[in-house]
Amino acid sequence: MAQSTRPAGFYRKHDGIHDALVCDDVPLADIAAAEGTPVYVYSAAKLRERYRAIDGAFGTYPHALHYALKANSALAIARLLRELGSSVDANSVWEIEVARRAGFEPSQIVFTGVGKSPEELESAVALDVKAINVESAGELARLEAIASRLGRPVRVAVRVNPDIDARSHPHISTGLKINKFGVPLDDARELLQTLPARRFLKLVAVHVHVGSQITSLDPLRRAAALAAAVSQELLQQKFPLEYVDVGGGLGVSYDGADVPSPADYVNAIVGAVRHTSLPIVLEPGRSIAAPAGALLARVIDVKPRTASSDFIIIDAGMTELMRPALYGAFHGIEPVSGPGTGDRHYEIVGPVCESSDVVGRDRRLPPLKENDVVAIRDAGAYGAAMASNYNRRPLPAEVLVDDGTWRVIRRRQTIDDQLALET
Ligand code: LLP
Repeated sequence: MAQSTRPAGFYRKHDGIHDALVCDDVPLADIAAAEGTPVYVYSAAKLRERYRAIDGAFGTYPHALHYALKANSALAIARLLRELGSSVDANSVWEIEVARRAGFEPSQIVFTGVGKSPEELESAVALDVKAINVESAGELARLEAIASRLGRPVRVAVRVNPDIDARSHPHISTGLKINKFGVPLDDARELLQTLPARRFLKLVAVHVHVGSQITSLDPLRRAAALAAAVSQELLQQKFPLEYVDVGGGLGVSYDGADVPSPADYVNAIVGAVRHTSLPIVLEPGRSIAAPAGALLARVIDVKPRTASSDFIIIDAGMTELMRPALYGAFHGIEPVSGPGTGDRHYEIVGPVCESSDVVGRDRRLPPLKENDVVAIRDAGAYGAAMASNYNRRPLPAEVLVDDGTWRVIRRRQTIDDQLALET
């Protein structure tokens, strides 16, 4: 394919007469008109750009990017990342199945998660994935029993809880002792010493992950340094470690504030791990997918709210994008046609039957009217992946824009799809 010079992702374009928000040069208004709303739109070019920014920053340092499928596991996106050379982090047996159908080999899959069921563990053992990232002594024992029953040694990493504050939203900070994740450092050191005697468990790595939407490098660097220090101790004791897994967590800028670049992030991680000479496994999700997606919604109603502000009721809400309701998260919102900014005061809300269903609080926008289409920005990660059927709302359609054209990668759910499961 010829190298394209147009910018990747979402940007406003003026052609002298019109002002339009486009995705890889395709007007979002056209996609909304053709596919209806609500609809997720993803930029293939942006996904590639973000993946390559992280991957390229490693230079010659040995590494593997295990894209965290939980951020967005649309098959087409998983396939696109595989074609770029990505591996995956799967958080359930169902994400493993998606990975397999997207063409990933078991050796490209790490299986993480704080509560893997016995059935999930058994299928991962049978598949012989790259590693099962174990989160407790109990899980290690269950895994050992399964591996020995099947007569199949299993590759494991132990997730250490480093008691580091990621200073992200409490719902998505995972590295403190009070969080449910991983094995506390002292216990982990003891647990790791039991491994050489357990012949069905092959320790391949130490794993950490301290949270998501982390906007300062310090916690990420400290977590990586700790995983590296524990790994170094093990290497000195002749444990044949293969790599160190430093998780994901790099934040993106939802509101224009500065966040570390992929290069700064990778430099910090490599700097913390280099002394071990171990290859690095990274599990980025949001930093690849978030900026590559927008959710398009249509204005259903405009109604007065206060003397100086109106409600804009759109046809997408917490069912399509749960982040604002769940974390108070900010996502930029702008009309797809006409100017992107203005000074009307709006509360942008969804159609769901509860007051938590606010998509954008206290926004300044150009005047909006019924049927206008707005784009909710940076929704490529933890958007569609967390959508629900509350109020019997159908899961939205998803579209991938690539090289100037688009295709539906997931059709809109129908009520028949929903009811097919019921008797
Ligand atoms: N590895 C592990 C073990 C994880 O638990 C996660 C995310 C990742 C990697 C990927 O982290 P990322 O690079 O995407 O930050 N629903 C929340 C985010 C939950 C993240 C869960 N774990 C949100 O919408 O903000």
